[in-house]
Amino acid sequence: MAMAGLPLAACVAFFHLCLLLSPSSSLRLLPVAPDAAGESTGRNGSRTAYHFQPAKNWMNDPNGPMYHNGLYHFFYQYNPDGVTWGNGNLSWGHSVSVDLVNWFALDAALQPSRSFDANGCWSGSATILPDGSPVMLYTGIDARGDQVQNVAYPKNASDPLLVDWVKPEYNPVIPVPADIKRDDFRDPSTAWLGADGVWRIAVAARVHDVGGATLIYRSKDFLRWERNADPLYLAHAAGMVECPDLFPVSEPGVEVGLPASGAGARHVLKMSVMDTVQDYYVVGRYDDAADTFVPEDDEDCRSWRRLDYGHVYASKSFFDPSKNRRVLWGWANESDSVSDDLVRGWSGVQTVPRKIWLDEDGKQLRQWPVEEIETLRSKRVNLLIPEVNAGGVNEIIGVMGAQADVEVVFEVPPLEHADVLEPNWLLDPQSLCGEKGASVPGSVGPFGLLVMASGDMQEHTAVFFRVFRQNDKYKVLMCTDLSRSSTRDGVYKPPYGAFVDMDIEAHGGIISLRTLVDHSVVESFGGGGRACITARVYPDHVVNGNSHLYVFNNGTGAVKVSSLDAWEMATATVNVLPDGLIAASSVSRAQAY
Ligand SMILES: *[C@@H]1O[C@H](CO)[C@@H](O)[C@H](O)[C@H]1NC(C)=O
Ligand SMILES: *[C@@H]1O[C@H](CO)[C@@H](O)[C@H](O)[C@H]1NC(C)=O
Ligand SMILES: *[C@@H]1O[C@H](CO)[C@@H](O)[C@H](O)[C@H]1NC(C)=O
Ligand SMILES: *[C@@H]1O[C@H](CO)[C@@H](O)[C@H](O)[C@H]1NC(C)=O
Ligand SMILES: *[C@@H]1O[C@H](CO)[C@@H](O)[C@H](O)[C@H]1NC(C)=O
Repeated sequence: MAMAGLPLAACVAFFHLCLLLSPSSSLRLLPVAPDAAGESTGRNGSRTAYHFQPAKNWMNDPNGPMYHNGLYHFFYQYNPDGVTWGNGNLSWGHSVSVDLVNWFALDAALQPSRSFDANGCWSGSATILPDGSPVMLYTGIDARGDQVQNVAYPKNASDPLLVDWVKPEYNPVIPVPADIKRDDFRDPSTAWLGADGVWRIAVAARVHDVGGATLIYRSKDFLRWERNADPLYLAHAAGMVECPDLFPVSEPGVEVGLPASGAGARHVLKMSVMDTVQDYYVVGRYDDAADTFVPEDDEDCRSWRRLDYGHVYASKSFFDPSKNRRVLWGWANESDSVSDDLVRGWSGVQTVPRKIWLDEDGKQLRQWPVEEIETLRSKRVNLLIPEVNAGGVNEIIGVMGAQADVEVVFEVPPLEHADVLEPNWLLDPQSLCGEKGASVPGSVGPFGLLVMASGDMQEHTAVFFRVFRQNDKYKVLMCTDLSRSSTRDGVYKPPYGAFVDMDIEAHGGIISLRTLVDHSVVESFGGGGRACITARVYPDHVVNGNSHLYVFNNGTGAVKVSSLDAWEMATATVNVLPDGLIAASSVSRAQAY
């Protein structure tokens, strides 16, 4: 090439994006300084500034996230024709990113077009083959209405953007089996290689008279698949399950992931359970010779741990070899009314991408926003409040409250005064958070943050902790209380709650809270990511006013604040141009240079 050695830079300035085409034709998208938060114009009160959303329309499950040739690819269940769930029209939306923060929209990767997906391209996963090229497995709803599993390959694996995908004629590769109802068979996982060199995938199903199942299929070529006689896991009582995932985790406490085929001492099985609309996971032992999984916990998946104790479903993770980590995404749906969605023109967001790893205790996953999110941190406020006394409220002034990242470390008062826990409370932390909201005083707590608060405090969302005593042990309850989140009618305002699985005494009475506030999302990580609660909020005051942030304590014992940092978050470039155009045209224009 004439330009050998000199990268060709094509910058589309107003789009904050540079494309660098190097001689090897590898392409890099470099986001330039993002918008300052305040500059964004025309932003609807509830549209997010740095969570993933398409420019418009309906989105649900994350699909096939992967890292390929220097780019992150994110696909998602998308209705190109409307704001409601597009039964029959569901497609795979497609965006790419260099940093998991700024995203550029491409054309849909998969759309219903063939007999084997005529009624929808449903959820699925990416697998990176040993030669580095990806293959997709996805559920098609075929012309008869059966759920079948299909494969798709990039048309040109050298195209850095992987814009075009080919669905081979021989699809479906797995038709619905005889013992499964046509609409109970879906969501193939990322494939992993056994020591025998044969690929395995997990597919969710409901087997007649047996229950929800995670079936295992094996293949050498992604074309011919054979089902194992025994499922990996059977949920007798739970009904249909969805979006299964099995992945290895590193030694307890080591903050790296292992690729899907990596030999890990332990594995995590994750499932989305339809009857509770929640995502559960358990750590266990997977034997790849026998294809068996033994959970190190209760048999009933509905009593496993939850990835998020708020409003998140259908999560999916991928291994990111560029940073040797596993990253999780989850769908957070709207919870006001469909007519509100229609006015807004969109429905559904994704959580921030979260790094996940196995805690030192070997039982629970820890989750933390990927470090790239911190590139959006702009104005910083470092508040020195030595103590918050009983009934105290301190405002965090100087950042835009609706678009913030707050990290606070609390030191609790002497624990011997903690309220006594009634044992049955352990079974239902969500109800306990309902009974003991932020306005119910206690001994050690409630203390925490008030976010998305109106100036008159009529509206606010409380994220807080309460510590209880049980015999000579202490239990930390974490809640997100939405009861005062909005004065609007018709908005879903449940309490959310979880026990943070940590020994607060051994931690010297120290507990941290990080909350990402993004207009209609309040995404919180308690105890260093041991418990996560994502909530959707729709306060009325955002139409005309600013949102405020506070630290509060409604416990009788004074709480020390060891540190408190709050950052205003810049607006990321997420699929939308300032003038509302979809970014794909700019990407192809820049590509044409
Ligand atoms: C934002 O959404 C509300 C309803 O949710 C609507 O009344 C308003 O017109 C929208 N504003 C803009 C700028 O789109
Ligand atoms: C599906 O697409 C067709 C054709 O574009 C459209 O008429 C129909 O309303 C769509 N259905 C949904 C649920 O969006
Ligand atoms: C595949 O993509 C590469 C990189 O963009 C390009 O150079 C090549 O011409 C493409 N091949 C075909 C057959 O389109
Ligand atoms: C979506 O939100 C509603 C609340 O509006 C909730 O009841 C429902 O279970 C949610 N669905 C999913 C799939 O998360
Ligand atoms: C703290 O408790 C008092 C008394 O119940 C109540 O008026 C106040 O609203 C509470 N604070 C919060 C943040 O709920």
